[in-house]
Amino acid sequence: MTIKVTNTESTGVDKDKPDHLKPYSGYHSNKVPAHDPELTEVGPGTPMGDYMRSFWQPVCMAKELTDTPTYLKILGEELVAFRDGSGKIGLLHAHCCHRGASLEYGSIQEHGIRCCYHGMVFDVDGSCIEVPFPKGEEKDAERYACSIQQGAYKAFERNGLVFAYMGPPENEPPFPEWEGNFTVLPTDELVPYSNFQHCNWLQVQDNAADNFHPTALHAAKYVVGGNFQETTFDEVGAGSMEVAPDMQFIPVHKGKGLACAGARRVDKDRLFVRVQHQALPNLSLHAYTSEDGSKKKLFSRFHIIRWTVPVDDENSKMIGWRVMGPGIDTRGVGKKELVGYESIDFLDGQVAMRRPERFGKYTIDDMPPIPSDHRARENYKDCQYAPGDYEAIISQRPIAVHALENPTRFDAGLYMFRKMLRDAVRGNNPDATPEGFAKWLEGMNGAPNSYCCGNVLDIPEAEDVDTEVKNRRYVAKQIVSILTEADQLKGDERADYVKQKMDELETSVQR
Ligand code: FES
Ligand SMILES: [Fe+2]
Repeated sequence: MTIKVTNTESTGVDKDKPDHLKPYSGYHSNKVPAHDPELTEVGPGTPMGDYMRSFWQPVCMAKELTDTPTYLKILGEELVAFRDGSGKIGLLHAHCCHRGASLEYGSIQEHGIRCCYHGMVFDVDGSCIEVPFPKGEEKDAERYACSIQQGAYKAFERNGLVFAYMGPPENEPPFPEWEGNFTVLPTDELVPYSNFQHCNWLQVQDNAADNFHPTALHAAKYVVGGNFQETTFDEVGAGSMEVAPDMQFIPVHKGKGLACAGARRVDKDRLFVRVQHQALPNLSLHAYTSEDGSKKKLFSRFHIIRWTVPVDDENSKMIGWRVMGPGIDTRGVGKKELVGYESIDFLDGQVAMRRPERFGKYTIDDMPPIPSDHRARENYKDCQYAPGDYEAIISQRPIAVHALENPTRFDAGLYMFRKMLRDAVRGNNPDATPEGFAKWLEGMNGAPNSYCCGNVLDIPEAEDVDTEVKNRRYVAKQIVSILTEADQLKGDERADYVKQKMDELETSVQR
């Protein structure tokens, strides 16, 4: 629903407003304050950068590793990634520790990589294993090799993504296997993707907790002149995602994450409650994105598992897995062939290069450079007709300025998440520090439970609006409480418990 404001007198807002709130007063609000460095800056030595470095992060897709080294920027660091002849993945500082040539011009060896400039070879752990020398100077060469070390990070491949740990080696945490296998059913698979975003990481993450924007940004009715493109609005959600959700945001796992529970009235018989889980600092777990709410469904699990990884302060990438298969995708609308490098299978406007004829067909080697100026794209006008998340997010400025925002009630989730991040980075919440996370993961055997779930309950619409509002908020909150009660259980035992409790909840509200 939208409210049309016709009579400002009746709102009770003070008539004696400050200058910048008066009509035609752009002059009084034309100064742009600085961004929030504590949450947005991620380079080496910054508080948020150090915090992010205490978690395993996906840095690229495995298919980006070809016969030449891949230049990457992650957390403001220039890196090269490669898979050597022995199959090991290297993630090294780009600039050679001899005299700084970039290893992106190096050649990949059976073990490690050879710098193009003077031929030194560095193994995947950064040790120098070969140096050039004139005959008779072997000892000197060996001594020199032992005296240098190329910066290197531990990396491994998992379901088509390369994960790296960029923090101090002595503090390496376990890789969190959410729910043991990311809840993938035997019929389904994790399909990797990576989508570049030309803006700071936090506004991309903010968008995940902004569960309200689909009602405008993704609503077919707002597409200018019906100028749809190829990937469509009508294929996803069948309208149910366009219903404004009543959101409850509840911190979980002692401030390590946030449950965003949105209740939507699908029809007079059914209530759809979708719980999205955000885990500090940059992971979000999303339930089925194409739910139409037509049938009862309890505790359906992950559909997107996504990290927002900073490239540098003004660029980032959404990188993660889309879960594909009939287990999660009960409507069968997913398109695996569209999920991948600079491509995803839902909604226009997820990536910079919106060229439907090439969607999902780029190979790593023929991908044209992604233009960083969004107004210089050849299909700029199409993007204006039917903007998507990419356009909305990157146009909030390279780094969104929080001081200029006027948050409304539905922004509560992202404001809570920012506060949780700040508490974690400052050490104000010991449970969310790197040590707190490590202890927790140990207790969960490295496989924490997630709150992410999609639920359609047979709960009829109440006769009056007040009861309807009360019911939907109660149900959303109760679902999060049930998940908290079940947090010590695992796997099927937990799923059975949760479903039984949801059934009981349904019956209690039906009465
Ligand atoms: S700069 Fe790399 S070997 Fe000299
Ligand atoms: Fe969106």
